[in-house]
Amino acid sequence: MLRIEGITKRFGGLTAVGGVSLEVSQGEIVGLIGPNGAGKTTFFNILTGIYKPDQGSISFEGAEIAGIKPFRIAQKGISRTFQNIRLLKEESVLDNVKVGMFRTTNSGLWASILGFRTARHEEQFVIEESLRILETVGLKGYEEEVAGSLSYGNQRRVEIARALVSQPKLLLLDEPTAGMNAGEVQEMTELIKQIKQNGTTVILIEHNVAMVVELCDRIAVLDHGVKIADGEPEAIISHPDVIEAYIGKEGIGEVSEHAAH
Ligand SMILES: Nc1ncnc2c1ncn2[C@@H]1O[C@H](COP(=O)(O)OP(=O)(O)OP(=O)(O)O)[C@@H](O)[C@H]1O
Ligand SMILES: [Mg+2]
Repeated sequence: MLRIEGITKRFGGLTAVGGVSLEVSQGEIVGLIGPNGAGKTTFFNILTGIYKPDQGSISFEGAEIAGIKPFRIAQKGISRTFQNIRLLKEESVLDNVKVGMFRTTNSGLWASILGFRTARHEEQFVIEESLRILETVGLKGYEEEVAGSLSYGNQRRVEIARALVSQPKLLLLDEPTAGMNAGEVQEMTELIKQIKQNGTTVILIEHNVAMVVELCDRIAVLDHGVKIADGEPEAIISHPDVIEAYIGKEGIGEVSEHAAH
């Protein structure tokens, strides 16, 4: 489904992502882990067209997408959430999810804020889809709440609903459990499993190694912008280079604690 070859992104003298290649098959969940500053979010920003890579190619379902505009990439079926929650905090939960439908249009967010210039039946379709997705992510009954008033965990669910409403083929999640308590992490794990069961392919950036191991078919590890390992979870967590990259040679058991800071 996705074939990334040798993508590089430099910021001045810093190589944030250096020659990373990755392949993702339809239906997989691939984990992307690595220490702070490893280049994970930059990798997503390249994939979604926010940054044009300095080098490399990205083929999605056979079409080259490196460097094309974000809304065109969204139209092809790639959607994401952000590391820092980005909601319209004063708006209702439902309106926040509706915005996700307009990510695939050039006018995007502004069209949705300035009123939907769509036919009535289209508006009805957008509302019905948004309500359906809100139920899927466990937010039935919260539709009219102001987004900013929700718990942190529920705000994350709204973000995921907004990303899912356009029915993406590939969903990119950037640290969906950041700042969550143990119960919320477990609920998020279940939600991601359900998203996979619905046939959506997922790339998951996550510091919670236990969760990544539980969820992912495969894990890729970035360190200083370079991919140092890629393989099945069991092989990755015992990989000497991975352990070294995180914490020296003390053992992977301390990784999630370390990463929580
Ligand atoms: N727009 C930018 N301008 C300059 N430097 C940037 C920019 N975006 C990212 N960087 C730098 O690129 C490197 C990789 O950052 P990135 O945010 O991709 O890391 P990350 O793996 O997502 O880290 P974290 O786990 O902390 O979220 C860092 O050194 C960061 O400071
Ligand atoms: Mg990041």
